[in-house]
Amino acid sequence: MPSPTHGTAAERTAVLEGLAGVVPPRAVSNDDLPAAWDTDDAWVRRRTGIRVRHWVAPGVSTGDLALEAARRALAVAAAAPVRPLGAATTAPVDAVVVATSTPDRPMPAMAPQLAHRLGLGPVAAWDVAAACSGFVYALAGAAGAIGAGIANRVLIVAAEVYSTLIAPDDRGAGVVFADGAGAVVLRRGEQGEPGSVLGFDLGSDGAGHELIEVPGGGALARSAPDRYTPADLHFKMRGRDVFQEAVTHMTLSAQLLLKNVGWSVHDIDRFVAHQANARILNAVAERIPVPSDRQVANIDRVGNTGAASIPLALADAAEHGRLHAGQRVLLTSFGAGLTWGSAALLWPDLAPVPSVHSTDGPPRSR
Ligand code: COA
Repeated sequence: MPSPTHGTAAERTAVLEGLAGVVPPRAVSNDDLPAAWDTDDAWVRRRTGIRVRHWVAPGVSTGDLALEAARRALAVAAAAPVRPLGAATTAPVDAVVVATSTPDRPMPAMAPQLAHRLGLGPVAAWDVAAACSGFVYALAGAAGAIGAGIANRVLIVAAEVYSTLIAPDDRGAGVVFADGAGAVVLRRGEQGEPGSVLGFDLGSDGAGHELIEVPGGGALARSAPDRYTPADLHFKMRGRDVFQEAVTHMTLSAQLLLKNVGWSVHDIDRFVAHQANARILNAVAERIPVPSDRQVANIDRVGNTGAASIPLALADAAEHGRLHAGQRVLLTSFGAGLTWGSAALLWPDLAPVPSVHSTDGPPRSR
C-alpha cells in the first residue's frame, strides 16, 4: 500500500472526482430483437420504457468495458478543477474495486487484472458482487476505506455483460437486460465540499434469492452436475415479483437515508435510481415522492445494465448538463440477492464527462 493517510476524520470524507460511462457500439432496437421472441416495439416501450439497448460483439467481455470506463474516469479525475489532498500518493489510485455479477471468470476477481491493464502497480484490488446494487455497495465500501484511512483515492468500476446471460427463449429477461460499464474515482476530501459522499443505506433479503438468479455455473452445479442443465447458465427471473420488491425496497431505502442525512424530499435536486424498468423508476419516484423533473433516466437508450446502470445514468446526465456542482443527489438501487442500497452526495465540480455513446466503442485488446 502507498503512504499511510493522515488528517482528521473531517478530512477523510470521500469525495467524487471522476466519472465516465461506456456502452458497446452495437445498438439493438426493439425492432432488432430476435423474431423468435414474438415481441414488438409498442409492448416493450409500454412495459419497460426501453427503446434501444447495447449488446457486446462476440469476444468482448466485462473486462473490456470496465477498462474503457476506467480509463475515461481516470482522465476526468486527472482534469479535476480542485486538486485532491491525496495527490501525494505514489499511484493515481491506491485501490481498485470492480462491481459486477458477470465476471469474465469465476476466479480470480476482476479488479487485480483491471489494475494491471491500467498500469496502476501493486494496489489493493477486489470485486463486489451485489448484482444491480453493486455500484452503491462498492461506493459504500470505498468510502469506508477512505474514512478508515486505508486508501486515499479509489477507482470504482461497475461493469456488466448481461446479454451473455439471456436464454435464447426468454423474452421477459431478453427485452430488459443489456451491457455497459460506468466508473467513478473517489478521493479523500473535506466534509461538505462539492462531491462529498454524505451517507448510505444498505440492505438485503436472501430469502428472495430465487426471484432473479443464474442457478448454474457455480460450486453447487459443479458438485452436483446431474441436477443442472445448460439452461441454468442463464437468467431465471420472476419478473412481476422482482418488480414489486424493487419498488418496495428502493422506496424504503431512499426514505430511510433521507431521514438519516437530514434531507426532506424537497432537498433532492437529482434522483438517480437503478435503471431497471421505467415503470419501476416512476413508481419509486411517486412514492418517495420526487417530482419528475428531478429524476435522471436513460433507460430508454441503454436498458438495464445492472451494476453499471447508476454510473451510466450519472455520466449521461453530466454530459447533458443536468448535474451541477453542489446539487444534492440521491441514488437508490435494487438487485438480485435480494440486495438494495442508497447513497446521498453533493455533486462535484467535475471536468467534462465524455459521451457514453462513443463511435469507436470499447477496445478488444486482450
Ligand atoms: N413481449 C411480448 N409479450 C411478453 C413479453 C415480451 N417481451 N414478455 C412477456 N410477455 C407476455 C407474457 O407472455 C404474458 O402473456 P400472457 O398474459 O398471455 O401469459 C404477459 O406478457 C404478461 O407477462 P409478465 O411476465 O407478467 O409481464 P410483465 O408486465 O411483468 O413484464 C417484465 C415483464 C420482465 C418486463 C417485467 O416483469 C419487469 O420489468 N420486471 C422487472 C424486471 C427487472 O427490473 N429486473 C431486474 C431488477 S434489478
